[in-house]
Amino acid sequence: MSGIAALLLELGHEVTGSDKVSTLETDRLQRRGLCFHEQHRAAAASNADLIIFSSAIKVDNPILVSARDSGKPVVRRAEALAAIMRGKRGILIVGMHGKTTTSAMTAHVLREGGLHPSHYVGAEIPILGTNAHWDPRGEYFVAEGDESDGTLICFHPEHSLILNIEEEHLDFYADLAAIEKVFARLIEQTSRTVFYNIDDANAARLCAERKGAISFGFSEKADYHAAHIDLRDFASVFCVYRRGEQLGEAVLNVPGQHNVQNAVGVIALATELGISFDKIAASLCKFEHARRRFEIKYESDRFLLVDDYAHHPTEIRATLKTATSIGRKRVLTMFQPHRYSRTKALRNEFGRAFDDADHVVVTDIYPASEAPIPGISGETISNEIAMRGHRGVSYQPRFEWVHRDVGNMLDPGDLVMSLGAGNIHEQVALLAADLVIAEKLKAIVGEQGDVRLYEPLSKHTTLRVGGPAQFWVEPRNESAFAELIRFCRCESLPLFVVGRGSNLLVKDGGIRGVVVHPCGGDFDKIEVNGNEITAGVGAKLKEVAYAGKTAGLGGLEWMEGIPGAVGGGLRMNAGAMGAQTFENVVGVRYLDPDGNLHVKKRDDLEVHYRNFPLLENNFAVSAVFRGEPAPTEEIVRNLKASQQKRRTSQPAAKSAGCIFKNPDSCPAGKLVDELGLKNSCVGKARVSEVHGNFIVNDGGATAADMLELIEKIKSVARAKRGIELETEVQIVGEPA
Ligand code: EPU
Repeated sequence: MSGIAALLLELGHEVTGSDKVSTLETDRLQRRGLCFHEQHRAAAASNADLIIFSSAIKVDNPILVSARDSGKPVVRRAEALAAIMRGKRGILIVGMHGKTTTSAMTAHVLREGGLHPSHYVGAEIPILGTNAHWDPRGEYFVAEGDESDGTLICFHPEHSLILNIEEEHLDFYADLAAIEKVFARLIEQTSRTVFYNIDDANAARLCAERKGAISFGFSEKADYHAAHIDLRDFASVFCVYRRGEQLGEAVLNVPGQHNVQNAVGVIALATELGISFDKIAASLCKFEHARRRFEIKYESDRFLLVDDYAHHPTEIRATLKTATSIGRKRVLTMFQPHRYSRTKALRNEFGRAFDDADHVVVTDIYPASEAPIPGISGETISNEIAMRGHRGVSYQPRFEWVHRDVGNMLDPGDLVMSLGAGNIHEQVALLAADLVIAEKLKAIVGEQGDVRLYEPLSKHTTLRVGGPAQFWVEPRNESAFAELIRFCRCESLPLFVVGRGSNLLVKDGGIRGVVVHPCGGDFDKIEVNGNEITAGVGAKLKEVAYAGKTAGLGGLEWMEGIPGAVGGGLRMNAGAMGAQTFENVVGVRYLDPDGNLHVKKRDDLEVHYRNFPLLENNFAVSAVFRGEPAPTEEIVRNLKASQQKRRTSQPAAKSAGCIFKNPDSCPAGKLVDELGLKNSCVGKARVSEVHGNFIVNDGGATAADMLELIEKIKSVARAKRGIELETEVQIVGEPA
């Protein structure tokens, strides 16, 4: 509609338009004189001489109702376009696939050839400036014809260019025969030449008998054909022949074999209009794609992200073929089906369309203006794909999570494609934006380090719940950690550190920003020096206890019972068997919020029960623990006692250790027990029957389940005993 409005404004008409929303496009048209309303009001019809409407507009639209009541002329978009075209020599580009690119290419080649064409194409075309333009200097008008609603019969062009004909828009047409009837009528109404793709069986059958028709394609039988095609990453080079005679070589800076075919159609048309092959070839070389046609969203040596409008099985197959020909390691695809009716009618074809993709994440249907059809959803397609034996298909009904699913699969060498005519490009754009940051993080941690997008934190917490970390980063040394801190500060990115995740409850929406997991390299090192053990924050507390045993150092045995790492033990001043971390710590090495390194002795540190405040804003890298020389038998005895205590009084199931801090009046486990809350549950979260201060995950629990159960326990303790329980487990992240 915006194209029609632009043309009418350029022709000097007064134009009023309305839509549910204002967009960049409506803003642009307003600057050119459009009177725009963000609501469809009946009054808009009263001053108009003519009302033009899109087929997405319902019959009960107030403007349409008012216009009909007052007897004003009302026409469909295509009728208006056909009428505007009558002011020029019309060239109509039609077909199920590729018509936007081809009409843009035609307008561009004619423009470069000095013919000053006017144009109307169905998308924003950077190289043409706008989607529609009236050029008073030229004779020709190039338009993209829309076959979806039968309105092709409104057109009486001088030339038609037919790209392909197949089953599509079966919400409108009964079958292929009905579609062909409309195309046949257009062919009849074309006053001069019909150009048709000889490789498309339906187009060839319909056009072959037409007097003076000119064929194009790959077949040598075509009047114009392409041969010796060299498909490169983002371009194609090919030779063009006219009835056996070589016209020359063309370079098309748009990828894909199907685009070569379309370009031969444009070459045929432009040649017949008298433009020299040299000029055509020079302009094709400069041609740039329409938006959303193999549009590169992100490109590096490691990753390539591309968006494409393909939404019909044939288009998807062609686009994925192009994607695989680029030669990256894998092709990962996010697909948003478009319209319920198309999904239903072409479900089998969709099932076969993704064979070239290594993985497909299918989300729900973009309805356009359609009402849902019961039983038809994105899952219809993912099931069809899976039924054909494709092993890499998944269904993600939450649209805003699609980029996460794909992003978490990413490996260097991957090509990601977003496919669909709806708004799936938003998801690939989000992924591209995050990938820019992820690549910078990777440069910081270097080859040894690891960076992953949208890493599920349920994989990194002992409770096994939690949504994803936007950026999961594993540095292997202090200097990389320091640089990460500085980077996050500079980019205003939140930074959170996760150790072994044994005392962590991450909400289902995950953690935004950078989640640092210091592990491996320097962080896992344990060194014994006399009575002191220096351990990196990634080392397990348990390992410190065993290093003590090997070195004949006692007093550390209680650490055997803590599932966490040194970092977490420090942050929480973790404890067991009546002991706590800072009774053994003699020094801590940490990075401040500017990434500067500090070393502090125990006496200079403020420490509380289950809390070491320094680490609220600083980041530990290692600690020195002191043990006391002790006979090995005694150490072994203490280790065994700790194990015994743990095995008999604590559950083996997935948990986050003790959920609550022990109130002064009574241990939390005893309190929960006395309140009779053991085994009470919410979803798959359950209070352990072994120990009242443990909540266990029975498999598939969500953070929401856990939080609800925690609240339930707190309110019962408050009501029945007047005790305010405080959580020991750290609760972080965002709700889903
Ligand atoms: N108790 C009950 N019913 C229960 C659980 C406990 O009556 O369901 C009673 C016990 O019989 C005992 C008292 O409550 O008399 C305390 O229980 P426990 O000895 O198990 O110790 P806790 O205070 O519950 C603390 C730590 C644990 C650590 C153990 C073992 C806290 C909040 N918890 O538990 O640490 O493993 O001691 O030394 O300080 C953790 O912090 O995550 C953790 C597991």
